[in-house]
Amino acid sequence: MENINKIQLGQNGPLVSSLGLGCMRMSSIWGGPTPDEAESIATIKEALDLGINFLNTGDFYGAGHNEMLIGKAIKGRRDDAFISVKFGAIFHNGQWLGLDLKPNSIKNFVNYSLTRLGIETIDLYQPSRMDNSVPVEDIIGTVADLVKEGKVKYIGVSEITATQLRKANDVYPISALEIGYSLAERKIETELLPAAKELGIAVVAFANTAEGLLTGEMTAPLNDDDYRNHFSRFQHENLVHNLEKVEVLKHLAITKGCTPTQLAIAWVKEQGDQIMPLVSMSKRSRLAENIEAMEISFTPEEMTVLNTTFAIGAIKGGTYLER
Ligand SMILES: NC(=O)c1ccc[n+]([C@@H]2O[C@H](COP(=O)([O-])OP(=O)(O)OC[C@H]3O[C@@H](n4cnc5c(N)ncnc54)[C@H](OP(=O)(O)O)[C@@H]3O)[C@@H](O)[C@H]2O)c1
Repeated sequence: MENINKIQLGQNGPLVSSLGLGCMRMSSIWGGPTPDEAESIATIKEALDLGINFLNTGDFYGAGHNEMLIGKAIKGRRDDAFISVKFGAIFHNGQWLGLDLKPNSIKNFVNYSLTRLGIETIDLYQPSRMDNSVPVEDIIGTVADLVKEGKVKYIGVSEITATQLRKANDVYPISALEIGYSLAERKIETELLPAAKELGIAVVAFANTAEGLLTGEMTAPLNDDDYRNHFSRFQHENLVHNLEKVEVLKHLAITKGCTPTQLAIAWVKEQGDQIMPLVSMSKRSRLAENIEAMEISFTPEEMTVLNTTFAIGAIKGGTYLER
């Protein structure tokens, strides 16, 4: 069954589902137990059945576990899936150690990803971040060589600046920019989003719920063992302030007969034809609700309420996405 619209990645790029499935939370990346694998695989399969073909992973999600999980889910139906893989982030025992973007390392990483995924070609391959240790030209140039070799089809980037985006696109046409974007995280609207639009690069927007803040299910204070306690957005008076803003979203959701999460996803989708909400869903039960969100539209008055309540800077404190 295909009930999801399509979005084009890049000016002459492929058509993929306008809602993406983020697989990150199907593995343990910061340590802790691995989520229910059977349910994760069933979720990927059902998403494909429903027409969500854009699957997002990183080779460092669960040290390769995420890719192996996707490999199992797409076995026998490779052509139903469009697979987007990030590389370059180095973790040890759930700790972020930095980036490795050296050309030789990239050539090494890609082969491990292909093996774990059980595929011949990665549809969209992207450095998870850039740093100053390797020039953008060398990083993108190496991935462009992988395109020539047939190991990669399209090139993307993730969490970079407008200047880096332009540089990368000068080296090789960039199909997609993966970036955190939500009602709570709108700083990209000043420079990066206009640059992507100008260059015809699709925006794969993740963290639509802002680490759960916009689901309407959060209460203050968080439990002591909640990982979000590390982020200033979820601490003390910041959290109280931010949850007051979320009350506006909850109220609007009641008026429109939907959920706050659906509104959070729909708002991202409404920011442009070239923007794809990329949503983590580790359970089949999430799929129907989030697919329905793609049908929600807003009146100009509703948009004004949201854009005013969640103006840039209205949500206090940051997360790991602080730019
Ligand atoms: N490029 C990068 O730097 C970067 C960084 C982070 C993430 N990503 C990618 O983007 C994807 C999404 O990012 P994210 O996980 O940070 O943000 P997200 O999509 O906002 O997900 C956050 C949480 O929302 C929950 N959720 C989903 N649908 C819901 C619903 N209808 N009601 C209530 N809760 C719901 C998910 O729960 P369940 O998992 O329990 O279903 C998940 O734990 C990731 O999977 C990953 O592929 C990329």
